[in-house]
Amino acid sequence: LSAIVPCCYGNDTQRANGYAVELHRPKALNALFTPLILELNEALKTLDKDSTIGAMVLTGSHKAFAAGADIKEMATKEFADAYGNDFIESWSELPNTIKKPVISAVNGHALGGGCELAMMCDIMYCSEKANLGQPEIKLGIIPGAGGSQRLTRAIGKSKAMELILTGKNFSGREAYDWGLAARVFETPEQCVDGALDTAETIASYSKIAVKACKEVVNKSQDLGIREGVEFERRVFHGLFGSEDQKIGMKAFAEKKKAEWKHR
Ligand code: CAA
Repeated sequence: LSAIVPCCYGNDTQRANGYAVELHRPKALNALFTPLILELNEALKTLDKDSTIGAMVLTGSHKAFAAGADIKEMATKEFADAYGNDFIESWSELPNTIKKPVISAVNGHALGGGCELAMMCDIMYCSEKANLGQPEIKLGIIPGAGGSQRLTRAIGKSKAMELILTGKNFSGREAYDWGLAARVFETPEQCVDGALDTAETIASYSKIAVKACKEVVNKSQDLGIREGVEFERRVFHGLFGSEDQKIGMKAFAEKKKAEWKHR
């Protein structure tokens, strides 16, 4: 791997069965060009299949999570190429195919596609001074990797519309205040450590239950409340067929720690 490296400023590169992946294209502030996205997809898919990994953290450097899609790669692109070759579709592997939880730990710039990549993750953590935004309007384009949809669902139409139409950036503190980020930390190190701690907690539970949690929460983004609750109930019923449900409830009754079969 060249544009992706194991996290180098969490306490460890790998803890329990949580894992941090760091975007590493320092000269371009982690601008997201196709080779980096393909490498990221491969790294995440490998970790997703690895039975020793329970959850993942995606981060960048102190300076930049990612400064957006690579403007130099896009500058001369034509419609026929973009449309004909499904430009940016490969970015959707993370939200569409990765089954294990992914936490983004956002430090520095997370602009345009960088903000969109952070929002594709299941949970977002930020440091106070992280610099997020959808500045595409300044380049004569619009967000192209889900920004107009995910930001709007997360913070509401009026605020998202204002941010996308003005290209105004916002801080990690604001992302937290508006409910886009689940937690905010004072320093970048604390942000990555906090994300790794959460990944470790998630990884300590039954993989079957974790997978089902992620699936039902994500469904809430696509379904109406009635269909969503029905879907949740079906999955809930299904878990009574898992050994880990028996193990978890027996351990509770016996006041013991559950030793999951699928961990
Ligand atoms: N694409 C390509 N290169 C980029 C880049 C990007 N998105 N962002 C930064 N870089 C490059 C710069 O060109 C520069 O390279 P050189 O040294 O070769 O000139 C290097 O990274 C360092 O950048 P700066 O000198 O600009 O650093 P700075 O600290 O002064 O500013 C910044 C940092 C505010 C992030 C500024 O670089 C910037 O505004 N970048 C562009 C942000 C942006 O507009 N992102 C949205 C892209 S469009 C998009 O993402 C579409 C989509 O929805 C998918």
